[in-house]
Formats: sequence, C-alpha cells, structure tokens
Amino acid sequence: IPSKITKIACIGAGYVGGPTMSVIAQQCPHIQVTVVDLNVQRIAAWNDPDLSKLPVYEPGLDEVVGEARGRNLFFSTDVDKAIHEAQMIFMAVNTPTKTFGVGRGMAADLKYVELCARQIARVADEDKIIVEKSTLPVRTAESIKTILESETKGIKFKVLSNPEFLAEGTAIEDLYKSDRVLIGGDEDEDGQIAIQALVDVYANWIPREKIITTRLWSSELSKLTANAFLAQRISSINSISALCEQTGADVDEVARAIGMDTRIGSKFLKSSVGFGGSCFQKDILNLVYLCHHFNLPEVANYWEQVVILNDYQKHRFAKRIIDKLFNTVSGKKITFLGWAFKKDTNDTRESAAIYVADELLQDRAEIHIFDPKVSEEQVHSDLVYLQKHRRSQATAYEYEEITSEEIKKLVVVHTDPYSAMEKAHAIAVLTEWDEFKTYDWQKVYDTMLKPAFVFDGRNILDRTKLTEIGFNLHSIGKG
Ligand code: NAD
Ligand code: UGA
Repeated sequence: IPSKITKIACIGAGYVGGPTMSVIAQQCPHIQVTVVDLNVQRIAAWNDPDLSKLPVYEPGLDEVVGEARGRNLFFSTDVDKAIHEAQMIFMAVNTPTKTFGVGRGMAADLKYVELCARQIARVADEDKIIVEKSTLPVRTAESIKTILESETKGIKFKVLSNPEFLAEGTAIEDLYKSDRVLIGGDEDEDGQIAIQALVDVYANWIPREKIITTRLWSSELSKLTANAFLAQRISSINSISALCEQTGADVDEVARAIGMDTRIGSKFLKSSVGFGGSCFQKDILNLVYLCHHFNLPEVANYWEQVVILNDYQKHRFAKRIIDKLFNTVSGKKITFLGWAFKKDTNDTRESAAIYVADELLQDRAEIHIFDPKVSEEQVHSDLVYLQKHRRSQATAYEYEEITSEEIKKLVVVHTDPYSAMEKAHAIAVLTEWDEFKTYDWQKVYDTMLKPAFVFDGRNILDRTKLTEIGFNLHSIGKG
C-alpha cells in the first residue's frame, strides 16, 4: 500500500470534489491533483481561463484555482488515466436519494459510487488507496471492497472513509480551518499505513490534533450523524417559531436566550423558511432507511420527524402568504428575493424556494424571482424536476402536477431586483443574501401594490424601518 502520496485523483468535480481538491493542491504543491468528471461541460468550466465562469460559485475559490491550476491542479474528463496514475483516489460523486425502486424516496442511490469502484477495479494495475469523500451509508466501504477485490490481479486496495464537513458558501474558509478532519480505516497494518498517508496530506495545513482517526464504520456513521444533529437544531428552532407566531414571543430572542447556555451553543439556531441543500434531507432519509433496515423503527421515526417538520415549515410559509393575501394568490405577482438554498452559493438543490413556489403555483400565482447567482434556466429546471420527482412521503400540501408550459408562463426570472418587485402584490425573502438588506425599501414601497406585503423567510430585513415605511411585514417566528 502506498505510504507516500505524490499523485491524487478525485472522481467527481462537483461542489465537494472541486473546492476540496483545489485546496489540497494549493496547500500541497508537491502533490499532483487531478479532478475528473464524466460531465464534459463541467470540466470545461473548471478549465475556463475566466475564473468567474467556474461551475461552482464559492467566495475565494477563484483565487485558489487561479494559483494552483496548471501547476499541480488539473481538471480532466480522462477518468481512466487519472485512476491509472494516482496512488490515492478520492470518490466525490453524488449520492442522491433514490427516485425509483427499492428504498425510493429514502435510501441513498449508490450507483455512481459503484460505477467508480468498478472502473477503478478494471483500470488499476498497482496498489491504491481509495478514499470515500462522498457521504455514504454506514458499511458502504464493505461493498466497495467487494467490488475492488472482484478483479483478481494480485494488487491491493485499502478503503478509507474521509467525510467532508464543508458548508457551501463558506467552503474555502471551512477547508482552511476545519473544526476537524475525520479519517476512518481498517485496524490492520495496511489500513494504518493508508490512514497515515492521508493524515500526512492534511497535515500540510491542518494542525495534527484536529485530524482524528477512527474505525471505518464510525467515520461513515459520524457524517450522517453530524448532518442529522445540525438539521435537528434547525427543525427544533423552527418548531418553536410556529409557537412564537401564536403567542407573541420572538424566535430570535428565544434563540439568543437559549444559545447563551454553553451546553446549547448559539450557532445554527437561525429560524428560517426551512433548510435546503443537497444533503440534510438526503442524509437524514438515508439514516432513517438504515434504521428501518436494522429494525429500529423508534430511532427511524425520531429522525424522520426532523424532515417532516422541515416540510411543515416550508408549507407554513407558503400558506401564510396565501392566507394574508385574502386567501388567494391566483393571478397575483409574488416576488421572491432569492432562490439559492442559502446565501453565497449558486446551488439551488432542495432549496425551500422551490417548494414555496410550487405551493403558490398550485394556486396559479405569478412568481417573479431575483437571485444574484441563479439563472432562469436553473429555476425552471428545478420546478420541472420537482413535478416529476416528488417524494411520496411529503404530504404537507395537496398538489397536482404543473406542466412545464405553465411553469414557463407563470415563473419569470429577473436580472434587476427593482423590476422584479415593481407592481408586486407581495415580496417574499427566501434566501438571506446580504444585498437584500440594503435595497432602497422606500423606492420598492412606492412602486408596489398596496397593501404592500413582505414575508421575510430569513428575518434579515429591518423590521422597524420597513414598518415605518408602511409595509405589511410578516417575519418567521414573530407574532
Ligand atoms: P455534485 O453533484 O455537485 O458532484 C458530483 C459529480 O460527480 C458530478 O459532476 C457528476 O458528473 C460526477 N460523477 C458521477 N458519477 C461519476 C463517474 N462515474 N465518473 C466521473 N464522474 C462522476 O455533488 P456534490 O455536492 O459535490 O456532492 C458529492 C458528495 O459529497 C455527496 O455524497 C454529498 O452528500 C457529499 N457532500 C456534499 C457537500 C456539499 O456541500 N455539497 C458537503 C459534504 C459532503
Ligand atoms: C451542511 C453542513 O453544514 C456541512 O457541515 C455539511 O458538510 C454539508 O451540509 C453536507 O454534508 O452537504 P450546507 O448544506 O452546505 O452544509 O449548508 P448549511 O450552512 O448547513 O445550511 C443548510 C441549510 O440550513 C440552508 O438552507 C440554510 O439556510 C439552513 N439553515 C442553516 C437555517 O435555516 N438555519 C441555521 O441556523 C443554519
């Protein structure tokens, strides 16, 4: 098993593979890092001389890529070559929720991981360390090993689990100063050599005491557990936001008061329209599926409630808009500020905005959207995708399928926020982009229809100022 790494390959040039490998390359100039993907367009964008065209928007990423690309960082579609050359291969492919067949709507779809393993088994002709970077169900390494060892060529593979904890929008910062780096591996001698080889890579910039090593299964399960705990905090505070709206308590005040207890902590207690992103829901459903698989229904139901509450939170927000607009939004112009699942990213996967829009479209609202980083094409494709791939478990509201023609007709994406808000019946803040706070709200008020409704799904707007201007403002968790 290789003990000194000079060549790394990463399969999957997405939101994880791209930024993590760029930082490894930047911090380890002595290691050649090649990131490969089947998606030709994506690789072309990673290689674009214009760094503003990278396929992933992350603050600071352009500088990192600018420094390392062409020196020891390469993006390519030649997967075989990269596998062949590298001593260490990261798998950072997507692991979405299955949309069909066994475990539909719950289990992780491991087909891309399996394909990678098969390709590595076929191409490799020397010993290699395989690193699971994707988030995977506990014990996936066992399946990967079985596939790798199915081609009996007399070479050795060691599988490590090295889950990624970065959050989008702060990926580069998170990769520079990780709270911890987690590496799981086998306890045998080769396993320890492989673990040490990966520790040595990270030790180029991460303090040694922050790099923790565990058994394989603990590492795999820690990733699902971390995301479940994080999402649980959001659902917990969101559940309280509903009670605040009924009682006159203020959810931000409650969060502040409880967060000062160091046992609870103040982070990740921001009440919102609901969490989005490609991972929280997927990973919790994956955990729920695993618990059912191991016949632990009480544990499964406990965690599933985090997702159910999140569906409820998105639904509550949409319903509040409809209720306040005199019980119908049909034909009304509703403006969304934000479509990305959080600020500082162009990622829209599972964004709460998609679900809120869908629910308003059920009533045939006209939705106008402004997001600083999201294109019209992306918005339309998100809505069309939802029509085809609803989780049957998500029953927060009654729905019928909306055709793509209707979506094209009813959903308009703007490149200027003021035109998006002109003559609107209501504005809804779906993403917490900083620029929304500094708009000329008097000007917005003057051009809107009255009563001028604002639904702040992120509690970022200045309540006193907006109310003084005359807005009819509805915030999350504020009576
Ligand atoms: P992504 O969809 O952005 O990227 C995955 C890439 O893998 C795609 O570009 C796809 O074309 C490529 N791919 C799939 N199969 C391939 C194959 N056989 N050969 C070559 N390329 C292939 O996904 P992502 O957001 O980067 O997430 C990847 C994994 O990391 C997931 O398991 C996810 O749960 C986990 N994760 C994501 C985040 C995040 O913030 N997005 C954070 C931590 C962990
Ligand atoms: C999350 C985790 O934070 C990362 O540690 C993890 O690596 C990643 O998932 C993953 O496995 O994919 P990410 O989804 O990129 O990262 O972003 P978060 O900052 O966690 O936000 C997720 C969602 O929760 C967003 O929609 C955000 O707006 C929402 N959120 C977050 C809240 O509503 N309130 C909060 O207090 C925090």
